[in-house]
Amino acid sequence: GGFLTIPRNSDAPKAFNWIQKIAVTESKNGIPLIFGHDVIHGYKTIFPIPLGQAASWNPATVEQGARIAAQEATSAGIRWTFAPMVDIGRDPRWGRVAETLGEDVFLASTLGASMVKGFRGDDLSSPDSLAACAKHFAGYGAAEGGRDYNVANIPMGQLYDHHLPPFKAAIDAGAVSVMTSYSELNGVPGTADYHLMTDVLREQWEFTGFVVSDWNSVMEMVMHGFVEGDKDAAELSTNAGLDFEMHSTALGDNLQQLIAEGKVSQERIDSAVRRLLRVKFAMGLFETPYSSEKEEFLKDEYLQVAKQAALESFVLLKNENSVLPLNKKQKVAIIGPLAEVPYQQLGTWIYEGEAKDSRTLLPALESYLGSQRSNIRYAEGLPYSRSKDRAGFKKAIRAAKKSDVIVFFGGEEAVLTGEGHSRGDISLPGAQQELIDELAKLNKPIVLVLLSGRPNTLEGVVDKVDGLIMAWHPGTMAGPALVDIIYGEESPSGKLPITWPKSSGQLPIYYNHKATGRPPTDDNYTRIQAIDPATTWQHAPGNSSNLLDYGHRPEFPFGFGLTYSSFEYSDLELEQQKLAVGDTLGVSIQIKNSGNRQATEIVQLYVRDLIGNVTRPVKELKAFQRLSLSPGETRTVEFK
Ligand code: BGC
Repeated sequence: GGFLTIPRNSDAPKAFNWIQKIAVTESKNGIPLIFGHDVIHGYKTIFPIPLGQAASWNPATVEQGARIAAQEATSAGIRWTFAPMVDIGRDPRWGRVAETLGEDVFLASTLGASMVKGFRGDDLSSPDSLAACAKHFAGYGAAEGGRDYNVANIPMGQLYDHHLPPFKAAIDAGAVSVMTSYSELNGVPGTADYHLMTDVLREQWEFTGFVVSDWNSVMEMVMHGFVEGDKDAAELSTNAGLDFEMHSTALGDNLQQLIAEGKVSQERIDSAVRRLLRVKFAMGLFETPYSSEKEEFLKDEYLQVAKQAALESFVLLKNENSVLPLNKKQKVAIIGPLAEVPYQQLGTWIYEGEAKDSRTLLPALESYLGSQRSNIRYAEGLPYSRSKDRAGFKKAIRAAKKSDVIVFFGGEEAVLTGEGHSRGDISLPGAQQELIDELAKLNKPIVLVLLSGRPNTLEGVVDKVDGLIMAWHPGTMAGPALVDIIYGEESPSGKLPITWPKSSGQLPIYYNHKATGRPPTDDNYTRIQAIDPATTWQHAPGNSSNLLDYGHRPEFPFGFGLTYSSFEYSDLELEQQKLAVGDTLGVSIQIKNSGNRQATEIVQLYVRDLIGNVTRPVKELKAFQRLSLSPGETRTVEFK
């Protein structure tokens, strides 16, 4: 089998080679091991969290980032990564939403495939190729209430429409393994789901790679109430199509006996072994079992790509009175618990990423501003995102008073998202809102820069700030990238890969929902405050699928993002008006940069099938293109 994850800061390549030598020279058949590890958004050079990368809508940058992650990880002796995570992330309460590529099947499929290609490179047998593992099969992102590991109940149609295609795309792009989900899908734990592992993967998709369990997920089927103990866990998971067990030892401990009893067939075992061997041969492990032990990390070129990835991940959500970009002459108060945060800026699921390698905000600001650095005043106000300690407020307010503009770095520490770290209330934690309230009293423009693994609800905050940038957790190069965006050296280009709710109470909320028989509009419901207790009767006005308190609109929709320029769309043309089954429709549109700065627009094509004997969503993303235009430039964008 394989060997998974060695402790941080151990001498990985030497350790791996030492273990490999035992496998190759002392084991019965001399079969090399496969070394696996969670290389999720970088190894040493950390890229934005996957949800942030998804906000770039840029397959090329995502692929480049994965390639660099592969170069670093393979230099440390790792040849297999437990990535990409292609679960659909529709619920920002779920901590692992940070690891997803967002809520949309097309975007997640496209970018998941780019990650696989990047990890893999041109040739899987090359020593710098990282074999990919699409996870978690399937429906893990649909955990009830955003509680990690919770049950997923997904009707078959939705499973095929939304949750399975990103796995197919990852496999088509070259993923050689698939990891099962901890969760149960419609009553059956992913690790023993015959339909998923055998019908879908093997039969329908003709997948030739192997399926690995999640960490201890074979044994967790006991807790699920699906099996009695390790023996039937081994039997059911193996017969359902599991090839490789992670962490627990139910298969190794029981398969011989199960074969002897005729409960698991020799053919099934042969097939599992063949799948794993096929991958090991393709990876060139039999020719080159050992790594060169020449670790190469954090090269300048890697850092440049990481900076570009961070820049492209930023989403400008609000920019009243063009408060952004700032200019060097302005006096700026830098406030907030997430301004100077070498560790937090790296985000969740980093093993080898280290705070000491992070390029943070303040040094980047100083070097950018040079002689004008004295225009900056810094006071964190709160020591960390969850803190309720108001002791630092005074200093922060003093700094703000002496400045022309306040830039507040808020959001969430890295550990508030990620595995097992879901929240019910996803507003800004700690006393951040109180501090913003205090600053707002000064009547100075406020820019809020959010570093967070999820969209945070901003009730009572969003109206108090003039500018708002979602920066996610941007990774190693956060500081220089943020400076470039804030001072307009670069224009923001990211778009939301996930719907941003006003309140957790709106969840689930996603753009590709169904119309319903009573579609909500802005007019067909009563605001809760407007209900007159004396005269309003039950049905006035409305009767639509709206909420009295939040209406039907999110805070910011999927696909939304501003920039420092503006774009005009015109002349939408369809090549033909009628389509037969199998025909292709050409669509073109003119996009003009109508502002006065170079900027990038992400043009998005959505379709709606108006009538179906199974209803279709009100909008479905089917294509997108990034294009960078100079001021006044017009270009025609074509889609098929
Ligand atoms: C996670 C997987 C991860 C594995 C190995 C599990 O807890 O769910 O995503 O790859 O651990 O670290």
